[in-house]
Amino acid sequence: MRFLGISILAASFALVSAQNKTLTGKFDCLAAGAYTLCQNQWGISAGVGSQNSTLLSASGNDISWRTDWTWANGPNSVKTYANVLHNTAKGIQLGNIKTAPTSWDWTYLSESQGIRADVSYDIWTGVPQSGDPATSASSYEIMIWLSGLGGIQPVGSQILSGVQIAGHSWNLWKGPNANWQVLSFVSANGEIRDFNADLKEFFDYLVKNQGVASTQFLQAIQTGTEPFVGSASLLINNFNVSVS
Ligand SMILES: *[C@@H]1O[C@H](CO)[C@@H](O)[C@H](O)[C@H]1NC(C)=O
Ligand SMILES: *[C@@H]1O[C@H](CO)[C@@H](O)[C@H](O)[C@H]1NC(C)=O
Ligand SMILES: *[C@@H]1O[C@H](CO)[C@@H](O)[C@H](O)[C@H]1NC(C)=O
Repeated sequence: MRFLGISILAASFALVSAQNKTLTGKFDCLAAGAYTLCQNQWGISAGVGSQNSTLLSASGNDISWRTDWTWANGPNSVKTYANVLHNTAKGIQLGNIKTAPTSWDWTYLSESQGIRADVSYDIWTGVPQSGDPATSASSYEIMIWLSGLGGIQPVGSQILSGVQIAGHSWNLWKGPNANWQVLSFVSANGEIRDFNADLKEFFDYLVKNQGVASTQFLQAIQTGTEPFVGSASLLINNFNVSVS
């Protein structure tokens, strides 16, 4: 009885404390419902500042979180990729995906003058069924930029403009990074703060028009922000994605 009482107490405490929990460390991560929220401050040796990410709520397939950051120096260097990664939306070949609906409603609660940052999906595919992002298992990194402020650019060079996918117009950038290819769709008409799409439309486009093999496995879907310099408070009111 005593053990039971203690474990129930511990379980309810964990549930409450996970809400609004703030991550401050360089590579801190937090289990957050269907997702994992991570600080991923991989590039901070190029700058001076700090970043904190706060889980606001996680329920079913929905997540809400906030990242506060301030970075100076290294204006052309990404400092971090504060992000959420879906724990199970992966492990399926692109050609076998029937639907991949996603919704992302976000805003800047505050942003400094001259902010340089993107708000983006980072989607990873490869030959093996599973593989961590940015590893030897990665073949493609597919980015979707819903915002890119301050004149920042994706990896590589722009190869197309005005590509129509999921009701929006995109400029497509392409280039190599380490052992994988980066394909970045950058919104051609400014910020998209309320994004609703089927990611299958992007996958189908890449298979049909950009030589991506339909046998590539989806290995990870992440969404977050890459700050370069400035300071901001980015609020994700709600994000979700599912793949079947
Ligand atoms: C978490 O933060 C939100 C928004 O700031 C607030 O409305 C909510 O009450 C907080 N929840 C907890 C458990 O502190
Ligand atoms: C992050 O948290 C630390 C420790 O609480 C604080 O000193 C720092 O100012 C915070 N940074 C931002 C950008 O909010
Ligand atoms: C995602 O969130 C939107 C907006 O709240 C909701 O309409 C939609 O049903 C959700 N979709 C999934 C796949 O969870």
